[in-house]
Amino acid sequence: MSEKDVKPDTRLVQGGRRREWTTGIVNPPVWRASTILFNDVEAMREAGAGRVGTLHYGRTGTPTQWALAEALTALEPGAAGTRLYPSGVAAISIALMTVLRPGDELLMVDSTYAPTRAFCDGVLARQGVTTRYYDPLIGAGIADLIGEKTRATFLESPGSLTLEVQDVPGICAVARERGLVTLLDNTWATPLLFPAIAAGVDLTILSCTKYVVGHSDVMLGSVTANEAHWKVLEQTSRAFGQHVSPDDAWLAARGLRTMGVRLRQHEASGLKVARWLAEQSQVARVLHPALPDCPGHEHWARDFKGASGLFSFVLKGGDEAARAKLIDGLEHFGIGYSWGGFESLALPVDPAKLRTATRVEYEGPMVRLHIGLEDPDDLIADLARGLAAYGATA
Ligand SMILES: Cc1ncc(COP(=O)(O)O)c(C=O)c1O
Repeated sequence: MSEKDVKPDTRLVQGGRRREWTTGIVNPPVWRASTILFNDVEAMREAGAGRVGTLHYGRTGTPTQWALAEALTALEPGAAGTRLYPSGVAAISIALMTVLRPGDELLMVDSTYAPTRAFCDGVLARQGVTTRYYDPLIGAGIADLIGEKTRATFLESPGSLTLEVQDVPGICAVARERGLVTLLDNTWATPLLFPAIAAGVDLTILSCTKYVVGHSDVMLGSVTANEAHWKVLEQTSRAFGQHVSPDDAWLAARGLRTMGVRLRQHEASGLKVARWLAEQSQVARVLHPALPDCPGHEHWARDFKGASGLFSFVLKGGDEAARAKLIDGLEHFGIGYSWGGFESLALPVDPAKLRTATRVEYEGPMVRLHIGLEDPDDLIADLARGLAAYGATA
């Protein structure tokens, strides 16, 4: 039976576990290396320039990194290969450097993660690449923005603060017709909830720091490419010396095996909390892709196989100080960056300050929640206490 014949959960368990890499150990072990020793000069020459599966030099990887990359590729029908990076931001920046040249224009979604925007406005601008930001809900209307110099378009769906779900297949169809490369930050959904290459994306990016690792203890990123872009992604990544430690790759592979069951629980608990929040008098709105009020919800309903645990809600009235008090008072939510781990987090977010092409206006301050694997009833009770106090002061 080929990998393609089995379902995603089976691929999660089996991907990358080649016998010659595991030597029989269930999870491919940590192979640490810089120098690889060869029997003789001829064997060294034969090892070539670091093909996957041939030990050559530490920077070109060992079975630990190869197994994780192969397991991620197996989750994306139509993909040619995956490269690993020391963080999600490194994955995003190398993917962009892979496809852009001086003089090019990039179309970047206005709801993108702030460090992605900073990379475009800083490093890319200095390299002579201009960035034009577009409305996340533009859909096939992106055709009107494509000019002679436009070379690529970057999507992030849903946005990690404001949660707009993009028409990814619609944008990709236009991009392909007009000769543009498409890149997607698919961290929220992972390939389990949105197989991006099959939807027409050329390069799909994950901050594996989130759901792949799943335990808030490793930084890691990945880019998975289709056949047309795989070789140039590999060459560019090598040229930039991108490498991931085998210890981090091992932890990520261990996390990956349970990502399916974890995501199902994040979805169920997240929806329970989101639906409860939507009924509270202190809450103006809940931005969760699976709820009808979320901008682009129809794209989520059409294209996604489920939801993860990250969403935002808007408070009715009140100010930043009252929001800080609400968050500070929560017992079961940590206060900190990132998401996708087993634990719940709450973060004050102010997306309006980041936008340049579109405006977002809300009824009050916004809070982003990551719903972890605690009992959702405990999380709801915690939020109920916080909102009751908020309502009294707002
Ligand atoms: C949507 C999104 N993409 C990319 C990243 C960057 O990933 P990393 O923190 O692994 O660099 C983050 C981090 O929070 C994110 O939320």
